[in-house]
Amino acid sequence: MRKPFIAGNWKMNLLCESSVDLAQRLTSLLAGDSSVQVALCPPAVYLQQVATALQGSSIELGAQNMSPEKEGAFTGEVSGSMLKDVGCHCVILGHSERRQFFGETDASVNAKTKAALSYGLTPIVCVGEMLEQREAGTTAKVIDAQVRGSLNGLTPEHAGQIVIAYEPVWAIGTGKTASPAQAEEVHAQIRKLLAELFGASVSESIRIQYGGSVKPDNAAELMGQPNIDGALVGGAALKADSFAAIVAAAR
Ligand code: 13P
Repeated sequence: MRKPFIAGNWKMNLLCESSVDLAQRLTSLLAGDSSVQVALCPPAVYLQQVATALQGSSIELGAQNMSPEKEGAFTGEVSGSMLKDVGCHCVILGHSERRQFFGETDASVNAKTKAALSYGLTPIVCVGEMLEQREAGTTAKVIDAQVRGSLNGLTPEHAGQIVIAYEPVWAIGTGKTASPAQAEEVHAQIRKLLAELFGASVSESIRIQYGGSVKPDNAAELMGQPNIDGALVGGAALKADSFAAIVAAAR
């Protein structure tokens, strides 16, 4: 039985006060619930303040990106050891916005995934097809290549520690959600591929989140699908009530 995992990707939103306020509201709204794993991924500059706000709660801290490098002359970058030092448990890697706007490739996501694992951070590895690819009927091929490329060379033991987020690019921030059947089809495909790559028992243990316009009113149906084990939430993670309602839907 896989424990549902809901992560809030705040993207480049909120300032210090509103970040701390949102984290504090969620600690009280979600207090005492251990049936769902929950993580908040604020902008890097507020990780420390959000970490402080989450102290003593079961909500985990996550980052939105990290460098594959250990340390040194990499201006503007944040390392895995820094994320660990500030209290992160997980890190989102290869989000479609990073692939689209910052030139990330399966190879760079692969390097970051290995680096994150070496620091004991849980990588949330994002994959997803663009609208043109879905319309051209190449979704399965695109997802297959992204999963293989992003997880290339991982041992089954390491693969067992990752989380995958399937985020169809056409569903992100658009209000258009994949239907539960559309999402489940891709999740099942990913699970089958993970079994081929890492073995059936590792594949069965890996959580696969769905992301793309997840809202309180569609969350339960999506997460009711056999291979959807949680959600990576953007817009609806910026309001305590809607995020808490999505967590409730995962129970
Ligand atoms: P929205 O929930 O705003 O569509 O964003 C999804 C996402 O990109 C989460 O990483």
